[in-house]
Amino acid sequence: MKKALSVALACSMALSLVACGGGSKPTEAPTTAAAGGDTTTEAAAETTTEAAAAESGAEVANKDKPLVWFNRQPSSSATGQLDMTALNFNKDTYYVGFDANQGAELQGTMVKDYIEKNIDTIDRNGDGIIGYVLAIGDIGHNDSIARTRGVRKALGTGVEKDGNIDSTPVGTNADGTATVVKDGSIEAGGKTYIVRELASQEMKNSAGATWDAATAGNGIGTWSSSFGEQIDIVVSNNDGMGMSMFNAWSKDNNVPTFGYDANSDAVAAIAEGYGGTISQHADVQAYLTLRVLRNALDGVDINTGIATPDSAGNVLSDDVYVYRADERSYYALNVAVTSDNYQDFMDSTMVYAPVSNQLDASTSPEKSVWLNIYNSADNFLGSTYQPLLQKYDKLLNLKVDYIGGDGQTESNITNRLGNPSQYDAFAINMVKTDNAASYTSLLEQ
Ligand code: BGC
Ligand code: CA
Repeated sequence: MKKALSVALACSMALSLVACGGGSKPTEAPTTAAAGGDTTTEAAAETTTEAAAAESGAEVANKDKPLVWFNRQPSSSATGQLDMTALNFNKDTYYVGFDANQGAELQGTMVKDYIEKNIDTIDRNGDGIIGYVLAIGDIGHNDSIARTRGVRKALGTGVEKDGNIDSTPVGTNADGTATVVKDGSIEAGGKTYIVRELASQEMKNSAGATWDAATAGNGIGTWSSSFGEQIDIVVSNNDGMGMSMFNAWSKDNNVPTFGYDANSDAVAAIAEGYGGTISQHADVQAYLTLRVLRNALDGVDINTGIATPDSAGNVLSDDVYVYRADERSYYALNVAVTSDNYQDFMDSTMVYAPVSNQLDASTSPEKSVWLNIYNSADNFLGSTYQPLLQKYDKLLNLKVDYIGGDGQTESNITNRLGNPSQYDAFAINMVKTDNAASYTSLLEQ
């Protein structure tokens, strides 16, 4: 109810903004909008290079412009170690994502709870083994790794490696002899069941795109034809792959399927037997992604409209995000979405009510932003995140150019960052988390 109202409100504001339009042309030089701007912002503006330069009409070097990494955190795909050089590219650089470990734990617990609650019907072939298959998104993506670990941890199938749960795909393990996972056990209904990861695989297509939904749809076909009766549960690192498997096989076979992201189609499918998903609060992430840029461009405190209310009343409470200064990162918090509460999550593209107020263009004048999505075919980014960004860009007076990549090569995207001087700020979603320098090198030229 509350959500629906706030969206109607946000929409009417967005509409009235368009209606009262007359904004600057897309091609306008980035620094002119604030040039000779009002005197009330001057003191604040002087605190940052770009705002000060804007006031004086000088050009801001690309390397000094605000930069936000989002959804794919600059880090080593081999070890997960954060790339602090990229995260500290300049004083206005941040990452926006979500708390991967908290979400992973929620996902694992959600699956375990489901098993316990449905113990009377879950073991389809009655062999005393609860078998599951797992679709892995990207073996080098820290969110994907965390989710694989979270599920293995909750179900007792994880094996320790270097102090952490091994996240290596098992391939197939129908007989339980694999070494990267082990059989777990669950006690429910007065009985002890074995829990087995029957199979898992990275869903990467032949061209190299990861988190690939079509590959997952084919994967479940292969798995179900070799050991279909043994599959009691399907788990996926995201809803894109989860829904593909659900539609291809598990829906018709009444096998509960669990994903991640709370995309609208997945939430709707809960009414048809999809087991559940996790909301990574994309409504908060999309806001933060553009908000950190806005604040840096305005030369105001970075937590304006985040930890502290802005003049329009936008503010986030600390139950929806955390900021870790040492990592230069904002992380949204996750929420489990199951048959108990899915009605509240039906529209994943709804702006978050506490941050849905229009900024005043006199103090936050239009600025232009270059933003890319690593793969235009990615389900979560395409159906949830980008629509949200497109609502917040209006509320924050940002003119954003959206660039969609092919999910395979960085150059497909960086080729379209040919003239960074045309933009005031940058929002980057890398193909591979190791590749931050492909972008920053262009800004350094
Ligand atoms: C999402 C996935 C998405 C990936 C892309 C993850 O946070 O859960 O659905 O494919 O990001 O980087
Ligand atoms: Ca079984």
